Amino acid sequence: MSNKKLEGKVAIITGGASGIGKATACLFAEHGARVLIADIQDELGQEVAASIDSEKCSYFHCDVADEEQVKAMVEWTVQKHGQLDIMFSNAGIIRATKGTSGSTQSVLDLDFVAFDHLFAVNVRGMAACVKHAALAMVERGVRGSIICTASVCASSAGDHDADYFMSKHAVLGLVRSASKQLGQHGIRVNSISPYVVATPLMCNLMGKEAEETEKFFEGLTKLKGVVVKEKHVADAVLFLASGDSEVTASLFSIVCIATQIISIARMSKKLEGKVAIITGGASGLGRATAYLFADHGARILIADIQDELGKQVAASIGSQNCSYIHCDVTDEEQVKSMVEWTVQNYGQLDIMFSNAGIIRSNKSTATNSDQNILDLDLAAFDDLFAVNVRHAVLGLVRSASKQLGAHGIRVNSVSPYVVATPLLCTVSGWEAEAVEKFYAGRTKLKGVVLREKHVADAVLFLASGDSEVVTGHDMVVNAGFLCK
Ligand SMILES: NC(=O)c1ccc[n+]([C@@H]2O[C@H](COP(=O)([O-])OP(=O)(O)OC[C@H]3O[C@@H](n4cnc5c(N)ncnc54)[C@H](O)[C@@H]3O)[C@@H](O)[C@H]2O)c1
Repeated sequence: MSNKKLEGKVAIITGGASGIGKATACLFAEHGARVLIADIQDELGQEVAASIDSEKCSYFHCDVADEEQVKAMVEWTVQKHGQLDIMFSNAGIIRATKGTSGSTQSVLDLDFVAFDHLFAVNVRGMAACVKHAALAMVERGVRGSIICTASVCASSAGDHDADYFMSKHAVLGLVRSASKQLGQHGIRVNSISPYVVATPLMCNLMGKEAEETEKFFEGLTKLKGVVVKEKHVADAVLFLASGDSEVTASLFSIVCIATQIISIARMSKKLEGKVAIITGGASGLGRATAYLFADHGARILIADIQDELGKQVAASIGSQNCSYIHCDVTDEEQVKSMVEWTVQNYGQLDIMFSNAGIIRSNKSTATNSDQNILDLDLAAFDDLFAVNVRHAVLGLVRSASKQLGAHGIRVNSVSPYVVATPLLCTVSGWEAEAVEKFYAGRTKLKGVVLREKHVADAVLFLASGDSEVVTGHDMVVNAGFLCK
């Protein structure tokens, strides 16, 4: 496996002279990309480009509020490098300085000169970058990746800075629409939503140094003992830009943090020294994740009720690193002893991938109901709930992440669209190929078929240090299916 996730790729990063954009430019270059930094801070931008390597990185003056400049930036990139694979549309401001009366932009006090300027950068500028990057990708048949920087403000309300909160809500609308419209060209569009990072943007707003700013926001996040840094956000952007997320359409929240920086050397084995339990690991998504976790150096316990299959998977991984245990997750005692067994035999537990699930109960359906609401067999219902607690999973993940953050434990979920695993093939009565054929065309991202490995990649990201500040997040792995 190559350590370099963006080898041969060409990326534009707007707002790349500072903060999150700068950290991402450095990380992209480390991963082999050729990077164009676009900004209005020319001196800083040139310094960043020079510090990376003039072969790999250039600077281009571009005010994203001016569509002509955005167009010229994209054209220049394509002329210089022959292509454009990644647009990280990140430039943004939090409070306009142009022509303002010093308003805090509370609703009762909105200064519309400042409002218009902020919208010109944060919304119009984002849209212009998405538009011109997409045009260049479509024209050359590039299956590119576009990432926009939204914010936790995109889904919350502010005591002031109403225009900033509004602008970030608009970014989500842009990303959802663009991912729906561009999926047919194989182009992915995602956003990231960081919590407070002590970049110049935030420090200027607070009128404080970085350390003081971090201290001020300390304690407002649930994940204990962590401070969100630019590098954490850059790691998430790298995930969304690279092939690791090739079917992910997600609005990505970076809510909580830890300070450790992940070295490139560690990246080939992301789970070295870790111990993971994978429920439902004998088949489908769980099995694919077990193989991927093993590749990344984890020791694994596969827990399932399909003993023969589970033992086969464990044996194929190797008894040094993988064991099998029978565990029916509907029985708390069995779950408890599975965890105890792991801690006794491996000395620790770092990752729980709670994945076991069924799609239709086979225990009690005398009526053979298809569980239409008019025909609901409640015995089958109870049986399915005992295993899955389906929609409650998000409620569980949100509550657990809130409650366990105090112990430094992260809790996230993955939400895949249809993958032709045995679970689905059994219910449909079809072979995997027929299932894939049936569901092809319902997703927006052209020419991809969702496979176990795509989901496993997302789980690996959430399990590894690459996402050490991500908690309470539902990662949708759907090739654009939900883009309505
Ligand atoms: N820092 C945070 O806490 C935080 C949290 C959530 C979201 N964000 C978002 O992250 C993005 C990056 O911000 P940051 O925190 O790294 O701040 P930053 O100030 O360090 O970087 C922003 C960069 O954007 C550039 N820029 C501003 N207006 C521009 C324009 N018209 N054209 C081109 N470039 C322009 C600036 O010159 C600067 O280099 C912004 O979209 C911001 O809204 C930041």
